Amino acid sequence: MFGIEFIGTGSYVPEFVADNNKFSEFLDTSDEWITPRTGIKERRILTDKPNYYMGVKAAEAALENAKLDAKDIDLIIVSSCSPDFFYPCMACLIQKDIGAENAACIDVNSACTGFITALDVAQKYLATDHYKTILVVATEKLSAQQDYTDRSMCILFGDAAGAAVVRRSDKEFYSMLGASGDDFEALYCKINYQSNCPFFEDDAPFYNNRFDTHAKKNYLQSDGHAVYKFAVNAMNKAVRNVAEQSGWNIEDIDLVIPHQANLRIIKKATEMLGVDPDKVYTNIQRLGNVSSACIPVALDELNRAGRLHKGMKICFVGFGAGLTYGAIIMEF
Ligand code: ACO
Repeated sequence: MFGIEFIGTGSYVPEFVADNNKFSEFLDTSDEWITPRTGIKERRILTDKPNYYMGVKAAEAALENAKLDAKDIDLIIVSSCSPDFFYPCMACLIQKDIGAENAACIDVNSACTGFITALDVAQKYLATDHYKTILVVATEKLSAQQDYTDRSMCILFGDAAGAAVVRRSDKEFYSMLGASGDDFEALYCKINYQSNCPFFEDDAPFYNNRFDTHAKKNYLQSDGHAVYKFAVNAMNKAVRNVAEQSGWNIEDIDLVIPHQANLRIIKKATEMLGVDPDKVYTNIQRLGNVSSACIPVALDELNRAGRLHKGMKICFVGFGAGLTYGAIIMEF
């Protein structure tokens, strides 16, 4: 069994702060509604740059923290469900700007579960010795996918990026990834191709008429109640699975870094697991839901605050569009 070692971490959040009161200026909403239902007080919005800009900044910070040169990186894995291009992948865009000319590049998209997925892929590559130094980046510009006339969703999301440089270690590492594709309609963002292909049929439905009527634009569509229910159960299932694999009791876990979709989801799921609330890290109050960037940004905040110590048992747990879910439990 090989685990992973975090050699360095980094993150980037945009300067522009949109607090709840800013949303009341153009929507029928209020801090009194948003805070108790979500835990969110403010979020950051990248107003003038593409998503990969944040990924580059987070990657550079992680390399600096690792005291490594970009040329030392063998592989870049980027998680993003809000990429700037269909292609090239985000990893190639980040590779170019940081000068990681020796790195192979791949993207993963399991939405908010993306950092857990990317870290799991990294661990598998490291375990086989195929790559030695991997840069994992999660960068998300969820503001670009919101309908800012829809008060039920746009208030939840923000923009940010997190990154980590990882290498193989002999520490313990257990993971599980799961998905329920049957439930994908609970959360999706459709691509609207602009093809002028003369062979396409006029008004041909995309699977069925629902998608065309509901998702004419590239906006995030979500059934908040369905996601809420799925999330609580999926987090519970994923953490119990990795705890069982490791043979550790849930009380043995020193730190839980969950996906930050809603403070009430985090509280409910960790309560069901019997995790001490003091061991659960949250930053949703300041950043909102930044999808797959939530966990690596939290990791970097903790690292820079000196709150991560060798030998700690850390648990990452998340869920997202797909619907996907997953957890990692590892020795730091
Ligand atoms: N301000 C004021 N009123 C609002 C707002 C708002 N921002 N949003 C909704 N309301 C109103 C609704 O219109 C509704 O009014 P009505 O009763 O007159 O029809 C009322 O508040 C209740 O709406 P609900 O949707 O039932 O509110 P709920 O308490 O369930 O909270 C929320 C909604 C926050 C979205 C919750 O369901 C949730 O957090 N779900 C999970 C998170 C989620 O879906 N995230 C997207 C996926 S992202 C991911 O990370 C996987």
